Amino acid sequence: MKVLNIIGNKTLTGSIRISGAKNSAVALIPACLLGNGTYTLCNVPNILDIDALEETLKYLNVDVSRASESIVIKTDKIENKPIPYELSSRLRASYYFMAVLLARFHYVEMSLPGGCSIGKRPIDQTLKAFKAYGAEVIEEEEKFIIKADKLTGANIHLDMPSVGATVNSILVGVIAKGKTIITNAAKEPEIEDLCLMLKKMGAKIKGYGTNTIEITGVKELTGCNHDIISDRIEAGTYTILGALIGKDLKIDNIIPEHIKSLTDILKEIGCDIKIEKDYLIINSQDNLKPVNIKTDYYPGFPTDLQQPITTLLTQCEGISSIEENIWENRFMNVPYLNKMGANIEIEEKKCIVHGKTKLTGCEVVATDLRAGACLLIAALISEGETTIKEIKHLLRGYEEIVEKLTNVGAKIEIKEI
Ligand code: EPU
Repeated sequence: MKVLNIIGNKTLTGSIRISGAKNSAVALIPACLLGNGTYTLCNVPNILDIDALEETLKYLNVDVSRASESIVIKTDKIENKPIPYELSSRLRASYYFMAVLLARFHYVEMSLPGGCSIGKRPIDQTLKAFKAYGAEVIEEEEKFIIKADKLTGANIHLDMPSVGATVNSILVGVIAKGKTIITNAAKEPEIEDLCLMLKKMGAKIKGYGTNTIEITGVKELTGCNHDIISDRIEAGTYTILGALIGKDLKIDNIIPEHIKSLTDILKEIGCDIKIEKDYLIINSQDNLKPVNIKTDYYPGFPTDLQQPITTLLTQCEGISSIEENIWENRFMNVPYLNKMGANIEIEEKKCIVHGKTKLTGCEVVATDLRAGACLLIAALISEGETTIKEIKHLLRGYEEIVEKLTNVGAKIEIKEI
């Protein structure tokens, strides 16, 4: 079993370069299957989720070649085959294949998607959108069969601005016949990135980045080149770390606007942070003030940084709280933070954090991706040694953690035990 071994409490200085956005890449890669041709994506993060998508592409007879930060996808020989559980369960975003195969072949058979266990994660809004386009959805025990004689543009109103349902609605709408309007759509930057790439492929889309997206379906889409935006959650994770043990720590290759909800809070609690066009510099600071945070859809405070920032709140002087409004089971990091010395209570969907408490290294488990990020930060600021188990979750979403952190002075290694 592979674990992360960390000796904490080292000052971090130098520069961390942020990789391409996981949640963009996992939508853009399936999107390439909508048309024939060659697609070159740059700034692709080298993480386990991308490995899983690559396997699915190869299974569908799509030609894939990967260099360090790019992927070239040739779709001319694609075959539509049922996607088995071994592939679909590897990540949540596997359900984007449902949309692209339905859109392209009018038939898809796929087992249930996977992803972190952070809540119920229903897909009713996606299925509602597929039906609005004219598809029939057959749910069997462990799989979905979705088929359509024809797909026609539709008015789709989402009950909540779901990222996944917005992506799936767009992926079908771009080649469905006629006009589609998606209301209460997600406004996350990754949606905008997807729409920009689809436009290069020939799609007609307006309104992305707002809650109403208008699409006019086109007959076919073609190959393109696209640079994936940088990962706002990876940027946020390392910025939080810098607020705790950074000394002129540079977080490079970021889009500051995408992490504004975080940097506003960091300024409010007294962090020393200087934001430039595509990087920021952060220094740790004593006497951080407590704060109350609520997660929300973009541009609100992202749920994906809720667990990482909880570690920071343990170091603020006084009582802080963080309310989780997106996922109902995203506090599995808390017992481990408490084991390390934090004083956190969970009250329904809120964490009440009593700071400031000293953290001490021990053995912990990364129960999900962002719980792993939270514990990684905790380990790096702790006295002594921490072992993090189940690191496969962390490696699903963070590229080259060990190299990036070692470069700025951390003592961290992956060990086989
Ligand atoms: N929801 C429904 N029905 C649906 C879809 C969603 O009730 O059909 C609910 C969910 O249960 C949740 C809320 O709507 O309460 C938002 O879910 P959303 O669909 O937006 O989430 P997602 O698309 O499954 C993406 C990211 C998550 C991130 C959320 C929220 C990807 C691959 N995943 O998930 O990222 O937390 O949006 O921003 O883009 C992560 O990276 O660690 C991660 C979990």
